[in-house]
Amino acid sequence: MHEIEIADIRKLTEVMKEKYNYDFSNYAMSSFRRRIQRVLELYKFSSVDVLIKRLQDDPRFVKELVSEVTVNVTEMFRDPSFWRELRDHVLPNILLNTQNISIWHAGCSSGEEVFSMAIMLKEMDILHKCKIVATDLDPDVIHRAKSGVYSIKNMELNQKNYIRFQGQHSLEKYYREEQGKALMDKSLIEQVSFREHNLVNGSAFSKFDLILCRNVMIYFNQTLQNQVLKLFHESLFKYGYLIVGSKESLIWCEIANKFIVVNNEEKIYKKVKD
Ligand SMILES: C[S@@+](CC[C@H](N)C(=O)[O-])C[C@H]1O[C@@H](n2cnc3c(N)ncnc32)[C@H](O)[C@@H]1O
Repeated sequence: MHEIEIADIRKLTEVMKEKYNYDFSNYAMSSFRRRIQRVLELYKFSSVDVLIKRLQDDPRFVKELVSEVTVNVTEMFRDPSFWRELRDHVLPNILLNTQNISIWHAGCSSGEEVFSMAIMLKEMDILHKCKIVATDLDPDVIHRAKSGVYSIKNMELNQKNYIRFQGQHSLEKYYREEQGKALMDKSLIEQVSFREHNLVNGSAFSKFDLILCRNVMIYFNQTLQNQVLKLFHESLFKYGYLIVGSKESLIWCEIANKFIVVNNEEKIYKKVKD
């Protein structure tokens, strides 16, 4: 199959935006193009025009397409040293100023990160003091996150991460196994509000002490990264924390001077200016 032309990608993003209000025009081109290539192969579409035709004829297809073009890979306690840092330094610091912590997981995917957070907060005995909002633009992953059902095969890696995080128990304490599935203890997410929210055109909806947006902006171009970082800045209390993925950084963004670097390795930043 030929490499997809940029003009084809533009046509596709136009239709998604105009007809369905999903704006992918500022996603990083090379990875977005690879995802579209994958969709063509998966659905056996002979060209981007055929894909566009399907999109125009079948409004239900847009949700499937959104799921396919976004990357949903996630793990529990991904980057264990980061989770240790969060438990041992960031959260105790937030607790010096407030007794009730508000947390936003932006781009939470199927919820493994949210369960990790809830497990950690429970082990710190502060889960009841925390209000968590978890959002993603993909309704399908939000649904999976709410259900808390994961493949048992993935639990092996999750367990390894949890051990490296130095959790208090065994991860098995937090789920039961049924027919090859891990059913997470739903009481962990009783207080979590899961919502559909698109970082591209979604507005600020609350103020937070801590925002995690890990491995999401890596798929955005610089313009969109700057725009989303402004949204995070606006959504944080002064001295609130913003945490991005291990391959991401705030150093080059327009709003960098309003944050200080708390931990460069773990990509932990603190808002110091309004
Ligand atoms: C690779 S996952 C990251 C999951 C988790 N934060 C982690 O680090 O393990 C990226 C997630 O970002 C979501 N995403 C992509 N674009 C988004 C947007 N514009 N608004 C909200 N979420 C978005 C995707 O649907 C996907 O679930």
